Amino acid sequence: MKPHDLMEKVEKAVRAAGRIIRDTRLDESHITVKGTANFATLVDFEVQSYLMQELAGIIPGSNVITEESEDNRFNLDSPTWVLDPVDGTTNLMYGCRMSAISIALYIGQKPELGIIFNPESDEMFTAEAGKGAFLNGRSISVSRNGRLQDSLIGFGTTPYDKTKSLQTFERVHSIFTACRDVRRSGSAALDIAYVACGRLDGFFELNLQPWDYDAGIIILKEAGGRITRFSGEEINVLKQGSVLASNGLIHEQLQNIIR
Ligand code: IPD
Ligand code: CA
Ligand code: CA
Repeated sequence: MKPHDLMEKVEKAVRAAGRIIRDTRLDESHITVKGTANFATLVDFEVQSYLMQELAGIIPGSNVITEESEDNRFNLDSPTWVLDPVDGTTNLMYGCRMSAISIALYIGQKPELGIIFNPESDEMFTAEAGKGAFLNGRSISVSRNGRLQDSLIGFGTTPYDKTKSLQTFERVHSIFTACRDVRRSGSAALDIAYVACGRLDGFFELNLQPWDYDAGIIILKEAGGRITRFSGEEINVLKQGSVLASNGLIHEQLQNIIR
C-alpha cells in the first residue's frame, strides 16, 4: 500500500469514529468508573471496537494497543497501532467539546504516522514520518518563541493519582510564575497537538500512558518540536511516564524548573 493511501484510509476511519463521539448522548448508565476520577463511557468502548476492526482491516495482522483493553500486547514486533479511543473522557461526560481520538502507527519498530482528531471542532492533526505535520491538511509548525517569560504553557494534573498532586501543583506554581500563563485542557493528546501548531509553547504532565502521547510525539517532532521525559530522556513509546513537550527553544528552561 502507498503511504498516502494508508493515511487516507486511517483518516476516513477516524472521521467515521468521530461521528460516534459527536452524535452519542451520554447518561449516567453509560459511564463505568475505573478508579479515582477515572471513567470509561459507552462512547470509549464503541469508538474502540469500531477502530480496532477498521485498523486491523487496513493492515492485516497488525497489533492494536488500546486503552480500554485488558490484553494489550506491548511490543512492536508486528505493525502496531497505539489507540486512545477518547482522550478527554471527563470532558466528554461534561460536554466540554475538548476530546480526541489519538492514533499512532509503528512499522518495523519505527513511527509511521500519527493522527489526533477532535470531532467537535472538526480539527484533524496528522503527520507521517519525514513529511511534516498538518492541521486539516495545512502545514503546521511550533512557535518560534525562545523566552519562557513570554510563553503559554499547558499542563495535565495526572487526575487518577491524587497522591502526585503536590508534585504537580508545585511545578505548576513555579512554571506559572516564570511564564505568561498556564492552561489545563483535559486532553493530553490535544495539548501536545496544540504545542505542534503553536497554540501552546510547552506542555507537561507527571504521568501519562503511551496512548496519551504516542500520536503526539510523531506530530510534534514533525512540526519541529521536542518531547522528552522530565529528565530530558527520550520517551519509550510503550511505557508510561512523565512528558515534557515544547517548541524546542524553551525546552531546557522548562526542564530546569520541572526536572
Ligand atoms: C486523560 C487526559 C487528561 C490527562 C490524563 C489522561 P483520558 O486521558 O489526557 O488530560 O490529564 O492524565 O489520562 O483518560 O481522558 O483518556
Ligand atoms: Ca488518554
Ligand atoms: Ca481514553
